[in-house]
Amino acid sequence: MEKIYKNFRILVAEDYEKVSSMAADIIAKQVSSKITSVLGLATGSTPVGAYQDLARLNKLGVVDFEKVTTFNLDEYYPINKKNNQSYDYFMKDNLFNHINIAPGNTFIPNGEAADAAKECLEYESRIESAGGIDLQLLGIGLNGHIGFNEPADIFPQITHHVKLDDSTIKANSRFFDNANDVPKHALTMGVGTIMRSAQILLLISGAGKAEIAQKVIFGDITPKVPGTALQLHRSVTVILDKPAAEKVTPML
Ligand code: GLP
Repeated sequence: MEKIYKNFRILVAEDYEKVSSMAADIIAKQVSSKITSVLGLATGSTPVGAYQDLARLNKLGVVDFEKVTTFNLDEYYPINKKNNQSYDYFMKDNLFNHINIAPGNTFIPNGEAADAAKECLEYESRIESAGGIDLQLLGIGLNGHIGFNEPADIFPQITHHVKLDDSTIKANSRFFDNANDVPKHALTMGVGTIMRSAQILLLISGAGKAEIAQKVIFGDITPKVPGTALQLHRSVTVILDKPAAEKVTPML
């Protein structure tokens, strides 16, 4: 099912596999239409399937990443890049090691930086120097966070250092041996950074995300639910699987 609702193009897919293949196709089309595309990338479990499909399309010669540049949304802080829970490790493991991208063209906020504030400013200006992001891939946190922009009183404008919510630490503890191992801070693009990308591709999967999916698309725009800012972006495609779309489909 495909529906246009305000600024959102909403695609409801049968299941997670279909969400992943549709997302990979959209990213591949972006790269084919502009070989020097600047992609914004995300971590979390949601984009993993899309990354596998992109690696497959790359091997088949359907998509070429040689001249592509990527900027990841966020990274834990502080974290050693060799830690298998760092987003640096995640991106190599799930995507970069499996496609023909130049390692020097892949950017992730540096979780090892001695000066977090300086790293954030430099990251923001690296994005600007690259000409901005053409297509930003996003997942959504259970509390509505995008990147690591946690519920707050304002929408942060640029890449910044954040303290993670207890609920995020709890949600992400599934990847660590225990909740105490989850870093308490992160470096993340701001909501403003995300909003400056030309196009956004938001993936939402699973019944656990049904409530937040509805809020992001139909709820009041508030920094208490950072993803609601997307209602003000000019070009957002949302792909949901049926369980995630349970509370969205009846409102379309
Ligand atoms: C993580 C990331 C987000 C991601 C979100 C959802 O903490 N910082 O960029 O979108 O949480 O993760 P998942 O896809 O595993 O539900």
